[in-house]
Amino acid sequence: MKVLVIGSGGREHAIVQAAAASSKVEKVFCAPGNGGIAGMAECVPIGAMEFEKLASFAKEQQIGLTIVGMDDPLVGGIVDVFEREHLRVFGPRKNAAILEGSKAFSKDLMKKYHIPTAAYESFTDAGDALAYLKRAEFPIVLKADGLALGKGVLICHTLEEAEAGVKAIMEDKQFGSAGNCMVIEEYMTGREVSVLSFVDGKTIRTMASAQDHKRAQDGDLGPNTGGMGTFSPSPFYTEQVDAFCRKYIYQPTVDAMAKEGRAFQGIIFFGLMLTEQGPKVLEYNARFGDPEAQVVLPRMKTDMIEVMEACIDGRLDEIELEFEDNAAVCIVLASDGYPVSYEKGFEIRGLERFEEANGYYCFHAGTKLTEDGKLLTNGGRVLGVTAKGADLKEARANAYQATEWVEFGNKYMRHDIGRAIDEA
Ligand code: AMP
Ligand code: GLY
Repeated sequence: MKVLVIGSGGREHAIVQAAAASSKVEKVFCAPGNGGIAGMAECVPIGAMEFEKLASFAKEQQIGLTIVGMDDPLVGGIVDVFEREHLRVFGPRKNAAILEGSKAFSKDLMKKYHIPTAAYESFTDAGDALAYLKRAEFPIVLKADGLALGKGVLICHTLEEAEAGVKAIMEDKQFGSAGNCMVIEEYMTGREVSVLSFVDGKTIRTMASAQDHKRAQDGDLGPNTGGMGTFSPSPFYTEQVDAFCRKYIYQPTVDAMAKEGRAFQGIIFFGLMLTEQGPKVLEYNARFGDPEAQVVLPRMKTDMIEVMEACIDGRLDEIELEFEDNAAVCIVLASDGYPVSYEKGFEIRGLERFEEANGYYCFHAGTKLTEDGKLLTNGGRVLGVTAKGADLKEARANAYQATEWVEFGNKYMRHDIGRAIDEA
């Protein structure tokens, strides 16, 4: 079968790698892809939002399965376009991708179906939001309703900060139309865990847990980013936590979507916080996490393509997922200055070592191949250096060692990825 992966980040590189490893796959295409994906798949210069062009390409090439990696095309309805053209595609339809596309929708769903989450109110009027804040307790969390590259969440410690936040989101439209509506919610504390799952509309199968590091600097300081590093599994995600989440969060979410006439088929990413009152949902995403996919997929023993096909055909109940009994750590190598401002175009050296090293992967995020075959930095997050190990400590040592193999101008990384491992 020929497979087409849509997206251009480290997550898509990990998806391409898992697809290429499937016994069912003869060739992988990626649109638009990047400099590293080009070594594993044929990159096609079509943008992820060019639905009609992508569908035409899939028809011409007789693609047997298209996998959508990114949130924007899913929320924009790419799956509906492919289905209309009778093309096989893995991901939620537009009416289900709203689980990620609208925070107000997802909060209302959780409230209606009693799924544990932070208390909240949603607002479409800035004046109402400001009036509400006068009565609120601090800290408090403001969220732009729509997609905002992971940056539409503001944690405000004072009334002044929160008022400025409402203005930025709803009046100055700092996150564009994502701020036409906003959610104001209770501030929670606890450990964060990401749990990714396959869903076929009624059955759910969860993958190994992971933890991300969203802040730019060591010690969880600095601005929020797309993610600076991950590890899997999370030592805090115990069997007891898993049992609670299965009963009160995972299956109830899938059932709620089905009841609403929005059956979800694809990946649900549960962003959880383990609070003193038990696990609660921070957010849902409708796709693999980036860089969570980079530590979860390399540990998955089950053929990813078989699982995706079972989701599309509604027979996920026939499949049990298997993971290696080990750990993986991903360290993001970024351009100094990310996520605020940074330079691009530096040559990257040292990647040959990953080809020979077993259990080491270098997933490309922002890279570009020049016509004369040079690899250049081309984004804020550049590479996701990933290593496996027998346990989390070994995986972390291996990953940090491998970051030294790679050189490029303005290379920046956090030095404390996985510090929670020592606190477990
Ligand atoms: P989200 O995009 O909703 O996952 O939010 C991004 C980050 O903001 C999360 O990973 C948390 O670290 C933080 N956050 C979001 N909602 C809350 C909340 N209610 N209480 C505390 N922190 C939160
Ligand atoms: N790593 C968080 C996300 O993909 O949203």
